[in-house]
Amino acid sequence: MKSHLVLVGLPGAGKTSVGKPLAEALGCPFVDVDAEIERREGKTVREIFAELGEPHFRKREREITKNLRDKPAAVVAPGGGWVADPANIALLRPPARLVYLKVRPSVALARLGKLRGTRPLLSRPDPLAEITRLLEERRVAYESADMAVDTELFDLQGVIGKIAELASAGG
Ligand code: S3P
Repeated sequence: MKSHLVLVGLPGAGKTSVGKPLAEALGCPFVDVDAEIERREGKTVREIFAELGEPHFRKREREITKNLRDKPAAVVAPGGGWVADPANIALLRPPARLVYLKVRPSVALARLGKLRGTRPLLSRPDPLAEITRLLEERRVAYESADMAVDTELFDLQGVIGKIAELASAGG
């Protein structure tokens, strides 16, 4: 693979669950942008939002994206809001390709389960309304991806297989 594959989609779409084994299958590094932000800050995403605010988090997200430009091809999993800033996409694509992991909001929430508490934007009284709103706000950006995989139609191996096909087809 010559360029990054960026997995985009709602929280709970499976970006990290798919990204790690996909990177292994492709023999390239896996970059979890949220984990990288947490490492640099020495705080969890939840703490960053609470103590430093969302704009600070978004700034870090942008910095890490910039750094990725000169890095060897990787499978990259940014947080679900990464696509909302067109500058992030413009920094990497081309040559990077975006893969949209599709999931319905209700299914995404069910997948997150207790982990929902680690997602500040979903730690609100009506999480289904929040995640549905996030999808509406981001739908056009998600759908601008180079490929979409409906994660409700395939199991984990199936999703990985579909994306690996794309990666080998396009380099
Ligand atoms: C966010 C998604 C989270 C994390 C942060 C904001 C979002 O990542 O980056 O809580 O704006 O949708 P996941 O998509 O991995 O949950």
